[in-house]
Amino acid sequence: MPLTRPRTAARWIAEHLHQPTPPTVLVLGSGLGASLTHHAKVLQRIPYSDIPAFPRTTAPGHAGEVLLLRINHTPVLALCGRFHLYEGHPPHDVVLPVRATKLLGARRVILTNAAGALNPLFAAGSLMAITDQINLTGKSPLTGPNDETLGPRFPDMSQVYSPRLVDLALATATRLGLRLERGVYLGVAGPQLETPAETRMYRILGADAIGMSTVLEAIAARHLGMEVLGISCLTNQNLPDCMAETSIEAILAQAAASGAVLGQLLLHLIPALEDVS
Ligand code: HPA
Repeated sequence: MPLTRPRTAARWIAEHLHQPTPPTVLVLGSGLGASLTHHAKVLQRIPYSDIPAFPRTTAPGHAGEVLLLRINHTPVLALCGRFHLYEGHPPHDVVLPVRATKLLGARRVILTNAAGALNPLFAAGSLMAITDQINLTGKSPLTGPNDETLGPRFPDMSQVYSPRLVDLALATATRLGLRLERGVYLGVAGPQLETPAETRMYRILGADAIGMSTVLEAIAARHLGMEVLGISCLTNQNLPDCMAETSIEAILAQAAASGAVLGQLLLHLIPALEDVS
């Protein structure tokens, strides 16, 4: 059964985009876009509210927009602002922008997010390349009738995150002298932050970082056959036995600071993607 809304959105964007869709799509997490968009050339801005069939944001002042960017000579389509389960969006809406960009012709997606560090060796303020994920949201974007033209009913998830893109991110970070950890990202629905007992459980389950996004988009992207890179900005340490009180304000403030480091990495990584085709 064909999914109509991602197709409607993709058709509209294709008609309005000033140049062909770039192969790479970047999904920018909370407060993470400012530094990158400051340093890249913004060729075009499309507010989400202009795009038919796109979900509507619930947060005032965070309407979201699609940006056509050029970094050096490399074009990239950036989705600034995403739809979260905790806002009440159904899983299909959370992944609709990623699906629309694949239908437009994009081949790979870079998912960024703010996350709490569960691994005690990972410092707040550092970046983590996601090597695998645990979906504990209790939801899947693939529930319901399968659109066979998008992907298979039972897609393989043995390698959600592309090892060659992780290697490229590591090589780029090393070249820039930036610290880039590697680890497993665990996705929860939120919006409440974790209790110490939950944090202890998530660490025992094998996760290095925890957040409220990314896992559904990664599942949808693999269903679509896209190559996925995930980068977490570790905004806080989330340790059960010395749990510090945290707030969304503190997380967003740290996200803005880490966003500058993430921006540096992406400014060099995105042009380097041209060489891996
Ligand atoms: N928990 C869940 N989500 C988050 C966190 C956290 O500690 N930090 C940033 N996003």
